[in-house]
Amino acid sequence: MTTIHMGVQLASTTDSIRIFLHVIGATVWVGGQLVFAALVPILKAKDAALPKLVAKQFNKVAWPAFGLLILTGFWNMATLPKDLPSSYHVAIAIKMSVVTLSGVAAYLHARAKSTKGMALWGAASGLAAISATYVGVLLAG
Ligand code: HEM
Repeated sequence: MTTIHMGVQLASTTDSIRIFLHVIGATVWVGGQLVFAALVPILKAKDAALPKLVAKQFNKVAWPAFGLLILTGFWNMATLPKDLPSSYHVAIAIKMSVVTLSGVAAYLHARAKSTKGMALWGAASGLAAISATYVGVLLAG
């Protein structure tokens, strides 16, 4: 019996490397923030200075991951066809906004002095990063 597979195929080597690097960046930037937020209460209970210390160490991995996301994001853009529908342009504009918010909010979160400021910018960064992930999946079609 012959099985015919229609419209299903593996990504090319370059495409798979491009998406793989973009997704690795997203898992570290987004997943890292979520896991860190979940660990804060237990770190705080052990020692009030611990969350800041762990955050500083996490940032050494998180910012390179964000840089990787920006680089591979532009690489993704370079592979897109010229005649994109306007809905795709809108999604790209939304993605750019939430990516910028995610980076700026993470920066302000790290520099915040008050608990209120830390909570506000931390939540904004996390939500923006999750939104960027969703719009990214939309763009991938
Ligand atoms: C916080 C930063 C970012 C996150 C979390 C993120 C996340 C993602 C995710 C999860 C995908 C879907 C991958 C897949 O399912 O195949 C994706 C795709 C995509 N992203 Fe991002 N991304 C970020 C930054 C950027 C930036 C800065 C750009 C543009 C400069 C960009 C442009 C794209 C494009 C065009 C696609 C579609 C790729 C394709 O289908 O070939 N991303 N993104």
